[in-house]
Amino acid sequence: MRNMTLNFYLRITIIITAFLVVGLVFLRNYTPYRNSRPDVPTTSLWLAPIVWDGTFDVKMIDNIYKPKNITVATTVFALGKYVRFLKDLLESAEQHFMVGYRVHYYVFTDLPDKVPAVTMGEGHRLTVIKTAGSNRWQEISLRRMELLEKLIKNELMNKVDYIFSLDVDSKFYSHWGAESLGDLVGVLHAWFFGSYRNNFPYERRPESQAYIPYEEGDYYYGGAVIGGRPENVYKLAKTCRMQLDVDRSNQIEAAWQEESHLNKYFLYNKPTKLLSPEYLWDDTKWKFNHMKVVRFSQVVKNYAEIRPNP
Ligand SMILES: *[C@@H]1O[C@H](CO)[C@@H](O)[C@H](O)[C@H]1NC(C)=O
Repeated sequence: MRNMTLNFYLRITIIITAFLVVGLVFLRNYTPYRNSRPDVPTTSLWLAPIVWDGTFDVKMIDNIYKPKNITVATTVFALGKYVRFLKDLLESAEQHFMVGYRVHYYVFTDLPDKVPAVTMGEGHRLTVIKTAGSNRWQEISLRRMELLEKLIKNELMNKVDYIFSLDVDSKFYSHWGAESLGDLVGVLHAWFFGSYRNNFPYERRPESQAYIPYEEGDYYYGGAVIGGRPENVYKLAKTCRMQLDVDRSNQIEAAWQEESHLNKYFLYNKPTKLLSPEYLWDDTKWKFNHMKVVRFSQVVKNYAEIRPNP
């Protein structure tokens, strides 16, 4: 008798478990609106999407953006020894970056003769802009905002649809397409994603225009990728340039120069789209499981060799 009761409960348990398993499998596979990336945050607190692999459908995105006939201006600063990174960057970009869209690269350099000839894909072209060099890498970093501001004002406003500003010492490894486009786009820094904001390397001295107090801050953004509509990137570049000028006249240089000012800007002007660290990885970093793909990564380099000064 006792045995039969046990048997009965055992059977019920097996049946319920079977239903649960079938139900879970069904939910996982057949719900079109399931959260495909439960392992990572896919929106910010102000509901800006955070772009991760698996959160978008390339075909659907292309169906939206291709008919719009958009042009994406892409600026790259390659001063001094940094021109050596151009070849890898551009060649890899031609394989992975905005393929099928009109792309116009603007390369700022003091060494126009050293810009490599890279075969451009259909609809892609490149313009070299001769720029004065500098003996200090910090100075180069500081002047980028000014150059970006001028280029947008003089050439890009009302002519292109989107802009990206990319660091030259980087390389594309995988698809980077129209899913990255937005009104104002920032990228989450690989080293500080998931970290407490107290640990973010924001500028902490109130004397600097880039100052962010410990009780403020959402994310730490990488300075190597800035994107958005021309009017928004213009406002960003202009604001950062003015704050950099104020700092300079007060003889203070923010902890991470331009990146510190960018983080200050994004704190009060929230990006409408955030790119996950897939869009700005660091080759020296150990990969978490949530990193399914590396799309763009900073090249491992010897700073002592590349920079004109320590
Ligand atoms: C797409 O845009 C380009 C450049 O803005 C223009 O020359 C071309 O005519 C446009 N094509 C169509 C089909 O609208």
